[in-house]
Amino acid sequence: MTGAYPHTRLRRARATAWSRAMHRETVLTPADLIWPVFVTEGEGVEQPISSLPGVSRWSVDLLVERAREAADLGIPCLALFPDTQPERRSDDGAEALNPDNLMCRALRAIRTELGDRIGLLTDVALDPYTNHGQDGLLGEDGYVLNDETIEVLVGQSLNQARAGADIIAPSDMMDGRIGAIRDALEDEGFVNVQIMSYAAKYASAFYGPFRDAVNTRGLLKGDKKTYQMDPANTEEALREVELDLAEGADSVMVKPGLPYLDIVRRVKETFEVPVFAYQVSGEYAMIEAAVAAGAADRDAMVLETLLAFKRAGCSGVLTYHAVHAARLLQK
Ligand code: PBG
Repeated sequence: MTGAYPHTRLRRARATAWSRAMHRETVLTPADLIWPVFVTEGEGVEQPISSLPGVSRWSVDLLVERAREAADLGIPCLALFPDTQPERRSDDGAEALNPDNLMCRALRAIRTELGDRIGLLTDVALDPYTNHGQDGLLGEDGYVLNDETIEVLVGQSLNQARAGADIIAPSDMMDGRIGAIRDALEDEGFVNVQIMSYAAKYASAFYGPFRDAVNTRGLLKGDKKTYQMDPANTEEALREVELDLAEGADSVMVKPGLPYLDIVRRVKETFEVPVFAYQVSGEYAMIEAAVAAGAADRDAMVLETLLAFKRAGCSGVLTYHAVHAARLLQK
């Protein structure tokens, strides 16, 4: 009988390092990494974020240097998030439309220094700009209004594109926003500005440290369950992805990451489009907490989790460990 022990021994291929390398099905490279960074006001400012040990907010001047290091390491793209000053936050998030807001200044500064050496992805949602921490405009009863919010998101997207964003990444989960943003980008001639939609974004308990990083945790009342997805759902994720693709998304994102790899796999197999995942702040914090407790080896855990995203079907991963991982991969 062939195909069975002892003729077949799967351990044969695992016996040496060269053979394991030869049989490896998935590879992770720095080009798979998108690095989320937080920008704050001032000059020469670095503010560590206590719930994200090892991650800081940087003023624009320091962020430019970090961007240069990332590009040198082969990281292809940054995802920028602004820590908007409290006095610039409002009910309607109007600061998102200001051509001189922190996000736009950071985009212009990095572009001026680095040209096209690194891609610049910008988050579209109003939470860094509202004084209530929700991603959209509030109706009288506190419900986040869909169509009214889209109008502001379109303006926010154009504002970012004019400042040099390469990839617009709507993370707000309003219905219909991808089509509206695509139309506006086409109308203004931004035909090569991509849209990576946060298509399947879940109402997750893993976003806590991020809300510290952009200082919205204290502001947010209630939750985001009327627009972000129920963690129980898969079919709905496929519908979200289908609609965003039909509306013109170039690529789609699943968020959070590791707890949702089944969604990544379903999306990849169903649509065969570029799928990205976001290893979010709470996932980063879990790894760092395990390392601090002496329960895990950071390097091994970082590389294993990132490889798992690739294995599940991701084209790339947004991760706060991007620089660390890229350094490990260069060794
Ligand atoms: C905002 C946004 C969030 C994250 C990315 N964009 C938070 C939220 O939806 O409340 C979370 C990222 C992370 O936790 O690392 N729309």
